Amino acid sequence: KFILDLTVTENIRLHTNYVLLKLTSQSLLPEMLPGQFAELRVDGSPTTFLRRPISINFVDKQRNEIWFLIQLVGDGTKRLAEVNKDDVINVILPLGNAYTMPQNPSDKLLLVGGGVGTAPMLYLGEQLAQNGHKPTFLLGARSDKDLLQLEEFAKYGDVYTTTEDGSHGEKGYVTQHSILNKVHFEQIYSCGPKPMMVAVAKYAKSNQIECEVSLENTMACGIGACLCCVENTTEGHLCVCKEGPVFNINKLLW
Ligand code: FES
Repeated sequence: KFILDLTVTENIRLHTNYVLLKLTSQSLLPEMLPGQFAELRVDGSPTTFLRRPISINFVDKQRNEIWFLIQLVGDGTKRLAEVNKDDVINVILPLGNAYTMPQNPSDKLLLVGGGVGTAPMLYLGEQLAQNGHKPTFLLGARSDKDLLQLEEFAKYGDVYTTTEDGSHGEKGYVTQHSILNKVHFEQIYSCGPKPMMVAVAKYAKSNQIECEVSLENTMACGIGACLCCVENTTEGHLCVCKEGPVFNINKLLW
């Protein structure tokens, strides 16, 4: 992994609670895989000097840019969201494992994202499309204000949405969407809040669909040292930051 000083090229506010940070490097960015994440250092305040794990939203190879979608939930993320163009953020990347690419070209791949968990689905979708697959996106959120980057997703595949209040797409949860009754998907990739992923995993299991999920356990060190991110699996306790964040659902005790 690399420790890099990346320069902010854009800080775009997406609705009130989310920002999209685009960062570039003077040198060529290292290879990064969909599902991997980075630790962004938050500094500039006397009390905050820490890192936040943020999943890789997109890698724009042509512009040598990496994108991070940040939900403003606490001091650290709020501070990160205040950066301006040309500011420098110290980043460790790439961390963790990646989603498994399918062997054969397939149009039966479903990418399910919830809330800010849709972030890694964009890079995954683009990489799948690059490799001759045709991904379908199913994105869920509380309301239309929490559905992000829909026009970006649409570049790489069909996009279906659900919202809890019915303000966009079908009303309800992703696992209730009618597309699931129309298409038999062969592989599901998912990232989002745990209750959503548990429901997705249950759906996949009962329909014998291969499924990988990216866990969002609380992380601190990001390198397997503090053990605050452990998940109990069929192989014992594993650090999500190191052995994950992506797991096949057969490995999880859900
Ligand atoms: Fe410290 Fe995973 S975050 S061990």
